[in-house]
Amino acid sequence: MTSPKASSSAPTQQAAAPTRRKTLLDMRQMHESGEKIAMLTCYDAGFAALLEGAGVDSLLIGDSLGMVVQGRDLPIPVTLADMIYHTECVARRSRSAFIISDMPFGTSQVSPGDTFGHAARLLQAGAQMVKIEGGLEMAPTVEFLARRGIPVCAHVGLTPQSANVFGGFRIQGRSPEDAARILEASKALESAGAHMLLMEGVPRPLADAVCAAVRIPTIGIGASPVCSGQVLVVYDALDIPPGRKARFVRNFMDGATSIEGAVRAYVASVKDGSFPAAEHCYPA
Ligand code: KIV
Repeated sequence: MTSPKASSSAPTQQAAAPTRRKTLLDMRQMHESGEKIAMLTCYDAGFAALLEGAGVDSLLIGDSLGMVVQGRDLPIPVTLADMIYHTECVARRSRSAFIISDMPFGTSQVSPGDTFGHAARLLQAGAQMVKIEGGLEMAPTVEFLARRGIPVCAHVGLTPQSANVFGGFRIQGRSPEDAARILEASKALESAGAHMLLMEGVPRPLADAVCAAVRIPTIGIGASPVCSGQVLVVYDALDIPPGRKARFVRNFMDGATSIEGAVRAYVASVKDGSFPAAEHCYPA
């Protein structure tokens, strides 16, 4: 009898090392012990296995999939159904990473009750936490969700779903008033029950001030190496498509001989604090 032909895309049949899924508690313990959290975006099963195998702690199913997977200019058209589909794809193959899913545009800007219903569907698809963009105005919603068993990562600063208001993907918090608004919002979101804070596209001094002001784990992208962890869009980190990227991106394919090698280099650079370097951060 012949054995079934091995397919390069089939799940491996080798005895896997025992793994345990990381939880919010692990994220908190890493933050408290000073071990940096290495997070990357992920949208499918193949990358979920590869990223985890290379040591990534947390996978973010970001609505950046609207741009990098669907070819759009903004994340605005991404639907809840899209997010559920990609969360299921990632969760099906993922074994160890802490999984966060974005609440897409229009699903968290509604009543707290309706937001709960949308967030619940992402948890049922496999997410352990949802990410919600916005500032002070989102505090009541964050509180409603957190009190009902849904951990929230609050996303402040350059929130891509507001690109139409910002006039594009523009660094936020440059003026003293705007910096104060983001700092106050961060503190209020923590008080409301947010379990994690993601800061995107803000000057480093503001990011450092936020890190000093809150006790929950902070994740930076275009923020500061002081954050408890870092995230990048995986396609950016792998230079897909090749070419010029935002200041906060480093091309980890540089010097790598494989995608897995590039991801291992990303994890190592986040863990040893060498990424982001000054050149990846925005001055005041
Ligand atoms: O959608 C996304 O990928 C994100 C990250 C860029 C933080 O929100």
